[in-house]
Amino acid sequence: MKNRTYCGTPDKSQIGQNVILCGWVQRVRDLGGLSFLDLRDHTGLVQVTPDPDNAALCDLIHSLHNEEVLKIEGTVRSRPEGNVNPNMTTGDIEVLADTIEVLNKVKTPPYLPDEAEKVQEDIRLKYRMLHLRTAKMQRNFRLRHKLYQSVRQYFDSQGFCEIETPFLVKPTPEGARDYLVPSRLHQGRAYALPQSPQIYKQLLMVGGFDRYFQIVKCFRDEDLRADRQPEFTQIDVELSFTDETEVQEIVEGLMVQVFSDVLGRTISTPFPRLPYSEALLHYGSDKPDLRNPLKIKELTDIFEGTEFRVFSGAIESGGVIRGLNLPGCGDYSRKRRDELIDKVKYFGLGGLVFVMPTEDEIKSNAAKFLTEGQLKAVVDTMNASPGDLVVIAADKSMHNTAFGLGALRNWAGKELNLIDESLFAHCWVTDFPMFEFNEAMNRFQAAHHPFTSPVVEDLETYKDSPGEIRSRGYDLVLNGHEIAGGSIRIHDRQVQRRVFELLGFPEQEAQERFGFLLDALEMGTPPHGGIAFGLDRMAMIFAGVDSIRDVIAFPKTTAALSLMDGAPTLTPDDQWQELGLSLINKKK
Ligand code: AMO
Repeated sequence: MKNRTYCGTPDKSQIGQNVILCGWVQRVRDLGGLSFLDLRDHTGLVQVTPDPDNAALCDLIHSLHNEEVLKIEGTVRSRPEGNVNPNMTTGDIEVLADTIEVLNKVKTPPYLPDEAEKVQEDIRLKYRMLHLRTAKMQRNFRLRHKLYQSVRQYFDSQGFCEIETPFLVKPTPEGARDYLVPSRLHQGRAYALPQSPQIYKQLLMVGGFDRYFQIVKCFRDEDLRADRQPEFTQIDVELSFTDETEVQEIVEGLMVQVFSDVLGRTISTPFPRLPYSEALLHYGSDKPDLRNPLKIKELTDIFEGTEFRVFSGAIESGGVIRGLNLPGCGDYSRKRRDELIDKVKYFGLGGLVFVMPTEDEIKSNAAKFLTEGQLKAVVDTMNASPGDLVVIAADKSMHNTAFGLGALRNWAGKELNLIDESLFAHCWVTDFPMFEFNEAMNRFQAAHHPFTSPVVEDLETYKDSPGEIRSRGYDLVLNGHEIAGGSIRIHDRQVQRRVFELLGFPEQEAQERFGFLLDALEMGTPPHGGIAFGLDRMAMIFAGVDSIRDVIAFPKTTAALSLMDGAPTLTPDDQWQELGLSLINKKK
């Protein structure tokens, strides 16, 4: 069938030509004795009709079911006057069938591709192949394919070498749980699936490959959501003898190239750089969506010395008071304002203060605790106009206040239609703290991974307050999604030792877990740094969809199940035994 014509392609220029079409039955129609059949492949639809005098062919068409697989030979002809369909790319023509061969019959499918968006996601995922036949999914995966090609072409042109790293590895430290693969030959031992190729790419730098990249699967057992999957794909990059500026320039070059190749869009660089503290202050997020024009503002100074306990309590315990103006929301009912409070409770905030300027006065639910001067200062700082609703949050934790208002900012962006969906807004988030204090574990954790370099001078300056030490990490954010994260790495054994010490890793444990990297640091490791992109997230944004499941051919559910093949499956006892394992709690 080398000479077949794709269904979405014949046009008037082919009138009179013989064609061979292959595809799926989209629908069969019978109009006043005339039979029509729409045949579909990934390029589109074409109308096929038999000669009305050919009774056998007419009967065959009537016996067909949707989604049956056909091979049709026939002649392209113009559609009769009045039958032209301007909504179809092939709407000017039809194919007069000479022969129709049924290559495969179908049992009634669980759903028709056309109805995919209407059926429950569980069913859609179970019969994924039917969903993949839809125009939307065909477009998404062809776009993803273009993305791979563009990425590979770009890195090749910049002198990067693609090298594969292993999947059966020693646990890698990206902060999630590992997927373990028990070893049959070495019972009691297990490989981990890599959360990222982090350590391996650093070793490639030690090995003299100064520019590496790889499009690679990573595995993380963590809470899933719309932009997270247990197995996902990274574009992983590492360079030797480099610094933040060079890594970021290379990444910006990549973005220019992929936007042009995949979407035909020109984007401008350099991208804005936002220190982490500023991202939290103004956008309440470390992945701000800069298409949203709303900005959070600091109001703490206005309430210095206030007797209002909610505010004075926050200030006295080192917290902050911040506000967000929701334009045109001044008439929100009590119920709607309570709904806003519900949205921030998740972030540990007890409530919100509302300030509503009108033409004559400034109203507030906390009016009796606040002075006129304070209310006016709030309205001025927030640039609020009559009809607006200023929302104020106060908490002893700066993070709670920031993330709570950030969530409202994101919500308002959608609810108030403030976001221009046709825009792509990138930014770098930089100057992350090196360590975050984990209250539950009562110790510091690495904000990125533990091989991220700190600003080395800070190690001494802030030796008694590790929370102040800055990291040399950076994230790339696009439309409110973290699409990449990376850093300049530690290449000095002493610095690495100090970082492990601050993370509460005893030297011996560090040696056991990462000895193969630590030893390499003493074998001539060049200064190096890099970054990794979430390729699925990029594809999701490019395709304009809300879930990475729409750009992963066979994704898992948010409960990490593969509904299509039933993985993970219950494993027979003898298979566990072979691995030297037995289950403590047997499930039926
Ligand atoms: P990080 O953990 O930030 O860095 O991951 C890099 C990027 O991968 C994407 N990502 C995910 N995408 C889908 N599902 C997931 N579960 C998931 N987790 C992460 C994000 C993220 O920005 N080794 C470092 C990189 C480096 O330092 O070079 C790393 O893996 O888009």
